[in-house]
Amino acid sequence: MINNPFIITGSIPEKYFCDRREESKKIIRTLSNGGNLCLISPRRMGKSKLIRFCYDKPECADSYYTFYIDILHTSSMREFAYVFGLKVFETLQGKSRKMFMAFVQGLRSVNAKFGFDPLNGTPTFSLELGDISRPEFTLTEIFDCLEKADKPCIVAFDEFQQISKYPEKNIEALLRSHIQHLSNVHFIFSCSERHLVTEMFLSSARPFYNSTSILELHPIVAEEYIPFVCHWFDVYERTIREEDVLVIYRLFEGNTYYMQKTFHEAFINTPVGGSCTLDILRQTVDGVLEEAGDGYRQLLSRIPERQKELLYAIASAGKAEKIMSAGFIRKYSLVSSSAVQAAARKLMELDLLTEEDTIYFIPDILFRMYLQRLKNTNIIFVPS
Ligand SMILES: Nc1ncnc2c1ncn2[C@@H]1O[C@H](COP(=O)(O)OP(=O)(O)OP(=O)(O)O)[C@@H](O)[C@H]1O
Ligand SMILES: [Mg+2]
Repeated sequence: MINNPFIITGSIPEKYFCDRREESKKIIRTLSNGGNLCLISPRRMGKSKLIRFCYDKPECADSYYTFYIDILHTSSMREFAYVFGLKVFETLQGKSRKMFMAFVQGLRSVNAKFGFDPLNGTPTFSLELGDISRPEFTLTEIFDCLEKADKPCIVAFDEFQQISKYPEKNIEALLRSHIQHLSNVHFIFSCSERHLVTEMFLSSARPFYNSTSILELHPIVAEEYIPFVCHWFDVYERTIREEDVLVIYRLFEGNTYYMQKTFHEAFINTPVGGSCTLDILRQTVDGVLEEAGDGYRQLLSRIPERQKELLYAIASAGKAEKIMSAGFIRKYSLVSSSAVQAAARKLMELDLLTEEDTIYFIPDILFRMYLQRLKNTNIIFVPS
């Protein structure tokens, strides 16, 4: 038995993974029928872990080569080709010698250094970003290799919205033209910045329009999550009441990470044979807020005053409508509707603010709570 059944870092063994049965079925069904899929959700709802979860299922693991490429930190097409190539290399190295050799021989456009590690008896590969001089060619070579593979391939690009921030404006069209012609390779595009993704996949003027099925990942439903938490407290000889789990579920609006983080800590704070009370939960949530506080303070220190004022106003409102109206501006002592408009645009670019159906809110719930507490230190998130 592991020490803590609420896992917040690293991979999650199947029995500690909550629900997502329908979602994983849909993903596997779409890919095995030859389609591509775009997975969208707000941050930390569980996209990355869901992809890993699907990859570990026998339906994927036994019949496909699976590649998982996180591109959040990349900022150009060259870097994209670099991390993609490196990941394909690493994955194939452990899976198929034949495929691995085909890949190595196919990568003609790069100055990679191939060698041999006599200690482990394995080939080595050293690829530096600077070795890629023509990323378009390198991408073609990688896709060619996967297309010719002896098993079908699944490629997941996590944080795919990042490509829209590259200086090369043709990257979308370029990728789309590859993807269209591949029959042995299926794709998962996972995205967390809604405004970028909806444009990319749902605007008829863009290359990816209508090219993939879209799966919006919603919170795990309370009917699944509450029994999951109670079950694991029970297995580890602790108790917790369903209605108290629901308090946390509602507080974080079902955000997977914040709930798991809270129960991970609350579990530590509950002795064996004891029960996890609302008191413990309140202290735990306060601790989680405090732990995140340093990062949030840093973040706030870099935001100009006008934008900060708007953030505070929207945090106080929770969900805000008509933020450019005279009423809203007066209520929160803001400057003018044009100042609000400019600040809102900046904050949305930074993903600190989201607009959905003309309602504005701060998507990071913990950050919202942090701001609310800055304004009102007496605010209590977990009632007695
Ligand atoms: N089904 C699940 N059961 C239990 N824990 C989960 C589940 N899904 C996700 N988690 C936990 O929630 C956290 C967030 O998951 P994950 O990293 O997959 O989210 P994400 O949507 O990829 O986030 P981001 O947008 O920040 O990349 C992780 O710490 C993970 O441990
Ligand atoms: Mg992720």
